[in-house]
Amino acid sequence: MIQAFIFDLDGVLTDTAEYHFLAWQQLATQLGIEFSRADNELLKGVDRMGSLELILQLGQKQLSLDEKLMLAEQKNTEYLKLVESMSPADLFPGVLPLFSSLKAAGVKTALASASKNAALVLQKLCIPDLFDYVADSNLIKNGKPDPEIFLTCAQALGVAPERCIGVEDAPAGVTAIKAAGMYALGIGEEHALTQADLVIPAISALDQTLLTKLLTL
Ligand code: BG6
Ligand code: MG
Repeated sequence: MIQAFIFDLDGVLTDTAEYHFLAWQQLATQLGIEFSRADNELLKGVDRMGSLELILQLGQKQLSLDEKLMLAEQKNTEYLKLVESMSPADLFPGVLPLFSSLKAAGVKTALASASKNAALVLQKLCIPDLFDYVADSNLIKNGKPDPEIFLTCAQALGVAPERCIGVEDAPAGVTAIKAAGMYALGIGEEHALTQADLVIPAISALDQTLLTKLLTL
């Protein structure tokens, strides 16, 4: 029986994956690097410096650590401008009813976001109290695709990994969930999330019928 759901944030509960893309795209353009939505798939779920490294690799650019830190800071400033105007209306449809159903079924919930801005986004969405546990990405040594953040959540909830479902929109995140020994529910397109146990187009597709099926896994 499944006893816990562990959620990614960006692109799963709200559309901040798009904000990350727009901010990275602006930086790439400034650096003269072509950066498409397809390229962006590889960045999803990857932490800030890791994402910058991938963009620099794409443009075959080598920069000093100081330059990289400055660029990462610049991207974050752009990202924060987009987050500034967020409100509870930006929560994806179906999230609140899903959490009510999970609570009613006695299923625990955690947030496993790689973002250093996760707490701010939760505040903007007015959902900091929705989770039984929120992982602090500052304390995670190995980012996704390493399973550390999902295992940390499972441990904090006191639930064995095999009794957890991880929910992710990013290939790196799905890899992390599978490496943690959990069931991976992918959000997005099947061809992009080939390692997932099941892929649904959006969190709203996780209705009562599907939830009942998943809870008896
Ligand atoms: C992940 C996003 O949730 O957080 C990535 O999928 C992002 O795109 C990463 O780079 C780190 O976010 P932040 O807010 O710490 O720069
Ligand atoms: Mg994500």
